Amino acid sequence: MLERLIAVTREAGGIIRSARDVDSSVREKSSPRDLVTNYDLLVQDFLRRELLKLLPEAGFLGEEGDERENLSRKEWVFIVDPIDGTTNFIQGYHNSCVSVGLAKQGQMEYGVVFNPYDGELYAAQRGKGAWLNGKPIACTDRPLDHSLLIFGSALYYRDLVGETLRLFNAAFPLVQDIRRFGSAALDLCYLAAGKAGAFFECRLCPWDYAAGSLIAREAGCTVTQLDGSPIDLFNKCGILAGSPGAWRELLALFQKGE
Ligand code: IPD
Ligand code: CA
Ligand code: CA
Repeated sequence: MLERLIAVTREAGGIIRSARDVDSSVREKSSPRDLVTNYDLLVQDFLRRELLKLLPEAGFLGEEGDERENLSRKEWVFIVDPIDGTTNFIQGYHNSCVSVGLAKQGQMEYGVVFNPYDGELYAAQRGKGAWLNGKPIACTDRPLDHSLLIFGSALYYRDLVGETLRLFNAAFPLVQDIRRFGSAALDLCYLAAGKAGAFFECRLCPWDYAAGSLIAREAGCTVTQLDGSPIDLFNKCGILAGSPGAWRELLALFQKGE
């Protein structure tokens, strides 16, 4: 199954790579910050068609509107983001990906994340490990003060600006430096590959973190909600992830509420 998911995800990445005249296909969703392009829809249609050929009985949860009801009761559910990093895609900032997760009975079983611009393909299978372009990857064992912290700005939620900045301020003195790349799925993969030590974002949707959370976990990272509770695969939640040591330190810091 993993190989077939990889093949479909790669092909979907090809659609992103070959996109032309992106500007003329941009539409606003909930706000001027929340955009969608024809390519998001095209890639999602492609994924729905090809993934359901692999597992016709599975449910399908994709960002660009689909059936949402009763998915948690299905044995298998695909959780996909056709383009994670849509703002980057529109701006020509080449840090976007296709994210494909497959959950079984509410647990992530397979995850594939592909950035078609640099050709990095991250994959994981529960209990079997995580790979970058076929090579095993592992989270960093550097201490927090020698590690990068990646954060996401939860840009679609005005109510979270204060909380995001509170966590940023609390963490900044304790880490080597902070990065904001604009694709939560890739952010989690960068943790998995040891390029950064930790990640947080105050609210994300399941398609942002489904695949990436498994890839990070299989690489040895801890992935939870911001209060340390288990992530929710079918509802929005905040995410705190990192190498076990970094995650522990940040959890304690964030819980101080200063
Ligand atoms: C967004 C990206 C971004 C994160 C946002 C997500 P989208 O996904 O993952 O990094 O900060 O919270 O919604 O809208 O580009 O698919
Ligand atoms: Ca997304
Ligand atoms: Ca998206």
